[in-house]
Amino acid sequence: MDRGFLFGDGVYEVFPIYNNNIFGLDSHLNRLQTGLDAINITNPHSNIEWLKLIKKVISFNKDINQAVYLQVSRGCDEDRKHTHNTLTPTVYIQSTGIQPRTKDSLLSGKSVISREDIRWLQCNTKATSLLANIMYSQEAKELGSEEAILYRDNVVTEGSSSNVFIVKNDCIFTHPKGQHILPGITREVVIKTAKLLNLKIKENAFDMTSLMNADEVWITSSTREILPITTVDNKIINNGLAGPIWSVIYDQYQTLKTLKE
Ligand code: PDD
Repeated sequence: MDRGFLFGDGVYEVFPIYNNNIFGLDSHLNRLQTGLDAINITNPHSNIEWLKLIKKVISFNKDINQAVYLQVSRGCDEDRKHTHNTLTPTVYIQSTGIQPRTKDSLLSGKSVISREDIRWLQCNTKATSLLANIMYSQEAKELGSEEAILYRDNVVTEGSSSNVFIVKNDCIFTHPKGQHILPGITREVVIKTAKLLNLKIKENAFDMTSLMNADEVWITSSTREILPITTVDNKIINNGLAGPIWSVIYDQYQTLKTLKE
């Protein structure tokens, strides 16, 4: 009778773990709180309690690099009604080993497909109800692609499980925060890193034509880090290779990963 199972009534987080260190812990816990507030679930734990629980789950797994999946659902009710009583949230945490890809393996980039974004207008909530997202991901996989990049009224929003960046004339662009995208933690790290390196970066929306004519395209997420995209809908982007700005940001990200928080 769990509403997470019955309705996808819950929110989740994915924390990357490098060398047993939780990367971006505070940002992920803050986003979890925002998500819980957005759907009126009382956070069942303090940040100190979450940290203890996450560390415990990490310790069960022998991999030094892991991805922790944490879900909070509204809990179990007596009845399968759309409306609910005040419930005790259910917490589910799991961790799986990850093998970060090497830079060399990324130099030729990955391919993606593009699809119209038909999702709801609360994409900033990291909800467990991911039906549209998983359908896009599956279609991309079946077509041998890494991801589906989504557009709404021809404006690129994000990927089915990632944020999207382009580079044009040495300026980096990504969709602004709001109801159309998940405010990715990796996206935020990339923006901060670019600013620290004095690179030009604008949180401005761009359309599909700009994406197809970009110098570089990347997608970002906690599990994929920063992936160069060199083919979109079977068309090659620029020279078909990962670009120089991606390379600089990627290197800096690798350094940040090694820092203890
Ligand atoms: N997905 N946009 C969407 C729709 C996502 O599902 C994700 C991440 C991101 C990137 O967010 P972050 O950088 O915080 O991981 C953007 C996770 C990894 C998942 O669902 O498994």
